[in-house]
Amino acid sequence: MTDLSVASTAKRTTFDVEAVRRDFPILSQQVNGKPLVYLDNGASAQKPEAVLNAMDRYYREMHSNVHRGAHTLGDRATAAFEGARETVRNFLNAESTREIIWTRGTTEAINLVANGLAPRLKAGDEILVSHMEHHANIVPWQMIAERTGAKVVPVQVTPDGELDLESFTSLLNEKTRVLAITHVSNVLGTVNPVAALIEQAKAHGIITLVDGAQAVPHYQPDVQSLGCDFYVFSSHKLFGPTGIGVLYGKAQLLEEIPPYQGGGEMIERVSFERTTWNTLPYKFEAGTPAIAEAVGLGAAIEYLNGLDRPAMEAAEAALLERANQLVEMVPGMKIIGTAKRKVPVMSFKIAGLHPSDIGTLLDQQGIAIRTGHHCAMPLMDFYGVPGTARASFAFYNTLDEVDTLFTALQKVQRLFA
Ligand SMILES: Cc1ncc(COP(=O)(O)O)c(C=O)c1O
Repeated sequence: MTDLSVASTAKRTTFDVEAVRRDFPILSQQVNGKPLVYLDNGASAQKPEAVLNAMDRYYREMHSNVHRGAHTLGDRATAAFEGARETVRNFLNAESTREIIWTRGTTEAINLVANGLAPRLKAGDEILVSHMEHHANIVPWQMIAERTGAKVVPVQVTPDGELDLESFTSLLNEKTRVLAITHVSNVLGTVNPVAALIEQAKAHGIITLVDGAQAVPHYQPDVQSLGCDFYVFSSHKLFGPTGIGVLYGKAQLLEEIPPYQGGGEMIERVSFERTTWNTLPYKFEAGTPAIAEAVGLGAAIEYLNGLDRPAMEAAEAALLERANQLVEMVPGMKIIGTAKRKVPVMSFKIAGLHPSDIGTLLDQQGIAIRTGHHCAMPLMDFYGVPGTARASFAFYNTLDEVDTLFTALQKVQRLFA
């Protein structure tokens, strides 16, 4: 077995990862007879006890429908639900809770914006995305393009997985109406310079949307300093429950665009002659919302607020650095995505091995990674691969787990060599 002793050279931080791990009950189990090593955080992250307790308490003590004002439980549920909205506002540094819309997740948020902007688009207009987008930030725009005659134009990516800034600048023109760009790539881990891109786009009067799904688990974005018109993310990747996500939008734009779905809550007055819309944010929240999930997301953010953010980011950087150091231990292993600024996401291939075989063999050793196209087929085409294996780390992962992954990869490689 190749020596993995470079561990001693990896940076250790003051971040108490063992204490943090105790907050996540799911992590302490065995899978296939081995301690679980959960490295599929990019797909969905695990939930701390604080989130589980908040949702449990909500259902035990305060559940009722919200905004009805009919009785005490309704008031409690509304206070918890709107309290969570304020927590999200604070997390994003949005100006007002009117700008925080609950959605089912990133995907629904992008569909909402794309549909809302459709009336502004006409034949020949251009919607700029990038070659590294998740399908959730491609397909809704393609559907709107089909309806309006607009065109979806991809900004190129460089071979090492950076956004090609020359391509970006050269594609901006008087026909560009929308820039929809990911903050962080789910495949490459690349952190895009979104503030600079938005600044350039704004100079052309372009509406900007940032897909923050993979950014928020690692960084706290400030929507006011970013200057974007829309910022979207999913709760389940941010250590909160599934079924809920967030659309931040500048109030003025949200006022202007039409509602996405019709029904209860989103109306001011309904008649067969004329129906009018509720005020923000409710205009975009048709039907009974995911109340317990909002409470859970609020609890997840409060939990993160209680951690030492700089120490947490340093611990994550150490995980990536450690993984990068160990790559050479596995013959034929190649990282896809080596941008200068990355979150701890490692997509890779191993010569002669199919990604799904790597995933299956790791699972037998208790290690959960993701394999496949990661909902980024255009990017797979760019790299000429059908898919990759991807280990995506969270702050609760340890340097020992990185070592365990590489020891297991060595075994897998030897088995097939
Ligand atoms: C960058 C990015 N955007 C959008 C999504 C879609 O998120 P959801 O399925 O939670 O709507 C994902 C999920 O993996 C993602 O990584």
